[in-house]
Amino acid sequence: MKKFPTLTISNHPLIQHKLSYIRDKTTSKKVFKELVDEVGTLLAYEITKSLPVRAVQVDTPLATTTCHVVDAERVVLVPLLRAGLGMVDGVLNLIPNCAICHLGLYRDHDTHEPVTYYFKPMPEPEERMFMMVDPMLATGGSAIASADLLKKNGAKNIKFMCLVAAPEGVEAFQHAHPDIEIYAAALDERLNDDAYILPGLGDAGDRLFGTK
Ligand code: URA
Repeated sequence: MKKFPTLTISNHPLIQHKLSYIRDKTTSKKVFKELVDEVGTLLAYEITKSLPVRAVQVDTPLATTTCHVVDAERVVLVPLLRAGLGMVDGVLNLIPNCAICHLGLYRDHDTHEPVTYYFKPMPEPEERMFMMVDPMLATGGSAIASADLLKKNGAKNIKFMCLVAAPEGVEAFQHAHPDIEIYAAALDERLNDDAYILPGLGDAGDRLFGTK
């Protein structure tokens, strides 16, 4: 029996290759962002493999045939602010017409409760597939609170995509949301005392936005 039944790690050689350079502290900000996008595209390819398709008639230059298309508007990308923004372009490369539902949470210093500072709910949420993106699944706190919020607003079909997950975060997330599949490029060893993932890649937001 798998320890984390909701977790899928992509062992695709290209993902693992790119992740090696993402982890490397000498990788420049520019290359870091490009690689995060590329891995985002590859993970999005995996995560969307069960998307429903609709039959359409297409006239080729020679004949009429039945083809299948995805209703891209039914896919909602949910970047968790701020680091999740770094994976948006990569997903848009694959699904340019998906909706983007930004979600911003912070943890209140005194109560330690998550506070939503930005969220615009989607209409007809039960019709859509929500793809949460955040490069790091560390403690799982903000991912859990974000999924809670999406569900409270009617989302029924949610997936979570990250670059690197910590066992502690996967455990907490799957306990809170056993119905949400997690897709990651790597499952790392553990969290350190500051809740950074080891070996990890450092602070994903700082490396994406040059804020350190
Ligand atoms: N957030 C990050 O950016 N990095 C970590 O290692 C953990 C949380």
